[in-house]
Amino acid sequence: MNFASRMAQIAPSPTLKVTAEADRLRRQGIDVVDLGAGEPDFPTPEHVKAAAHLALDQNFTKYTPSAGIVEVRQAVCQRYAIDYGVTIAPDQVIMTAGGKQALFNTAFVLFDPGDEVVTHAPYWPTIPEQVKLAGATPVIVQTSPEDGFAIHADAMIAAMTPCTRAVIVNSPSNPAGALISETNLRAIAEEAARRGIWVIADLTYEKLIYDPVAHNLPAILAEVIPDQFAICSAASKAYAMTGWRCGWTIGPKAFIAQCNALQGHATSNINSITQRAAVAALTGPQESVTVMLDEYRRRRDAVTALLAADPRITCVKPQGAFYLFPYVADVLEATGFRTTSEFAESLLAEAHVAVTAGEGFDAPGFFRLSYATSMERLEEGMRRLHAFITRRSQ
Ligand SMILES: Cc1ncc(COP(=O)(O)O)c(C=O)c1O
Repeated sequence: MNFASRMAQIAPSPTLKVTAEADRLRRQGIDVVDLGAGEPDFPTPEHVKAAAHLALDQNFTKYTPSAGIVEVRQAVCQRYAIDYGVTIAPDQVIMTAGGKQALFNTAFVLFDPGDEVVTHAPYWPTIPEQVKLAGATPVIVQTSPEDGFAIHADAMIAAMTPCTRAVIVNSPSNPAGALISETNLRAIAEEAARRGIWVIADLTYEKLIYDPVAHNLPAILAEVIPDQFAICSAASKAYAMTGWRCGWTIGPKAFIAQCNALQGHATSNINSITQRAAVAALTGPQESVTVMLDEYRRRRDAVTALLAADPRITCVKPQGAFYLFPYVADVLEATGFRTTSEFAESLLAEAHVAVTAGEGFDAPGFFRLSYATSMERLEEGMRRLHAFITRRSQ
């Protein structure tokens, strides 16, 4: 069969592939420890669900403006005013079907064939794939575990050329859980402003930062590059709302109008009930976010210690998000696997533990393990992982 040429340029999502295979095994009655999924294991907070029930009971089930009802866009503005002290107007916000559509709209509104877009690796695969779908070329700046996968402004700036249209930073990052420092973002934004380059920040995990470090990226963007920035974020991870499909893009008014024009011909508004739930999530009590974060922190520390039982596995302590990204090159050598893809496939087939191989994140020798699952399942997963390595090392 013949498909559009753009389809030849993209690869299917590696995380969704793992989830599908884990599902297949589960349907055969196999007890799979799934550490592949990138979503909170917590339920959506009660007050958020109550707002959705009410919306349904009030028959709030019709089309809304494509950018979202003004109440939810105001709720986003209010959240960013409280969290970051920035002033954003509702016409600088569009509600999207998750962070994914926020980034997709941005790519399609901004990028042309021939444009280059600088971003950092290890990356969440959707970021470069969307750049390619828009016809542009991703330019990848590698970060390294030696300094905690820190994003260095000088390396990002060195990758800029006259063809650079935008820089995309993801902080906290998936899969490494790294944060960009305010100083580095400011330096990137200043250089971008000088060169007329857009700065796009994927802040999908912005609420999941473990220590009280300065991370006011919105204020820096609004101050340094007010005419050429986009913030893409979502309710998905912060409020355990992955299935509701609620994200947003914030940016200059004219850019948001373009996102709206695009979305108006693609998906129109996001689910009306979700919009009312999102108002409750964004303006209601935020304690549930802290409770989840505390639990993720506990799991991060516990699983890091369990992984360290094998001295050949090294792992940077993530500063945010809910993934560990261990380096297992020595384990691969000892067990005879050539790649972490092969390792992860056998781990799933034989030990029934699902993790995501690093190759998909442009990080061979690593794999990603999500700790957004119960402590008990994590402990079981680590037991199976170590037993698998021991068995394969013989
Ligand atoms: C870095 C990053 N950005 C954006 C998203 C989009 O999330 P969603 O579309 O579910 O809101 C994800 C989801 O895994 C992510 O990891």
